[in-house]
Amino acid sequence: MRLVILGGGGFRVPLVYGALLDDRAEGRVTEVVLHDVDAGRLSAVRRVLAEQAAGRPDAPGVTATTDLDEALRGADFVFSAIRVGGLEGRALDERIALAEGVLGQETVGAGGIAYGLRTVPVAVDIARRVARLAPDAWVINFTNPAGLVTEAMSRHLGDRVIGICDSPVGLGRRIARVLGADPRQAWIDYAGLNHLGWVRALRVGGRDLLPRLLADRELLGSFEEGRLFGAEWLQSLGAIPNEYLHYYYFNRETVAAYRSAERTRGAFLQDQQSRFYAEMADPHAPALELWNRTRAEREATYMAENREAAGAGDRDEDDLSGGYEKVALALMRAIARDERTTLILNVRNRGTLSVLDADAVVEVPCLVDASGAHPVTVDQLADDAAGLVCAVKAVEREVLAAAESGSRSTAVKAFALHPLVDSVNVARRLVDAYTAAHPGLAYLK
Ligand code: G6P
Ligand code: MN
Repeated sequence: MRLVILGGGGFRVPLVYGALLDDRAEGRVTEVVLHDVDAGRLSAVRRVLAEQAAGRPDAPGVTATTDLDEALRGADFVFSAIRVGGLEGRALDERIALAEGVLGQETVGAGGIAYGLRTVPVAVDIARRVARLAPDAWVINFTNPAGLVTEAMSRHLGDRVIGICDSPVGLGRRIARVLGADPRQAWIDYAGLNHLGWVRALRVGGRDLLPRLLADRELLGSFEEGRLFGAEWLQSLGAIPNEYLHYYYFNRETVAAYRSAERTRGAFLQDQQSRFYAEMADPHAPALELWNRTRAEREATYMAENREAAGAGDRDEDDLSGGYEKVALALMRAIARDERTTLILNVRNRGTLSVLDADAVVEVPCLVDASGAHPVTVDQLADDAAGLVCAVKAVEREVLAAAESGSRSTAVKAFALHPLVDSVNVARRLVDAYTAAHPGLAYLK
């Protein structure tokens, strides 16, 4: 079976390859094709993979190319994990928004819109090529903003594209852990959009354990989201939000923390990652060791500004291993081997959430088997959640429309309608600044 990874020179590719190495079952991936626009990054990552595969005689073979069409031909699965504009682009997204006093996070608020406007045209081009060159392939989209990008691709690939994110799984695992439940046995009632969802129940054997957690302030204070949002606010909400909701519920504090930080997350990663790739230019560099060290630092500092703003302290040891690759592998396995399972994924709504139309990509639990991912019936969103979800989906739709038409005023509308952008004038200035900074936005006229 052939897996093609777009963004194959990306830093997280060794996580995926590590998971593939541990998969010994029948029908596993035997061939990995890495595609990237940057040959230097491809060769750095290839060296990390080669060290991972050392002493593993049945390790999946790895090839690399900078030719997209060549990469896609013969694909069974395509993982799309690209970053249009690179980390330099991410740092610019943050800085330009913060200069206007609004959030520039890569997936939330003004930053997410800028990143989406750059990424959608590229993702659509990829989707069209997949439809032409590998029409039977399944595309698993990791590219952020993942919900929006998945929706853009679904217009060309239908249900053959599925978006994934590790944050709902991580959240479900943490809640199960503090409740003493086995996450594999627990049914997590989660719904919303990517990076904009809530856990409303956690059922084991049909019984909802969440009320026990919500009633216990000590338990609430014992895990990441409890510390981030505070027990009292979680009790008021009656649900546990995805960590990215911290940017909404504590917007003023997170913007202030980002503004006063020495460097934004994107700027930090830009330095950290370029150091890694530069060190890898030395052919004698210990590739896997360097990668592991860089990864540990990246994981430990994830969302550091939010934790600082909330006084939440360091991340728990158990939360550092991510899970990104595990979701992707579980999804691929379920489809390829018809191993029926339930995963929280980004798929077309088809009536699951009544406040959104059928084609809106939502993040909900899905039943997965060889026929794909099918959203499961969940409770409807509470009014406050529905309000946010509808507002953000409307913004996403403006981004998709702007990317299709190239209309600058539609882009302004996308920014202006976002709940975290507080004036139409701010939106206008953001479009001016973003188009001046990003060559990838030159299409907006
Ligand atoms: C989580 C999110 C991803 C996001 C990543 C950013 O895993 O679910 O969507 O890309 O965090 O991490 P970073 O180290 O790049 O800040
Ligand atoms: Mn994510």
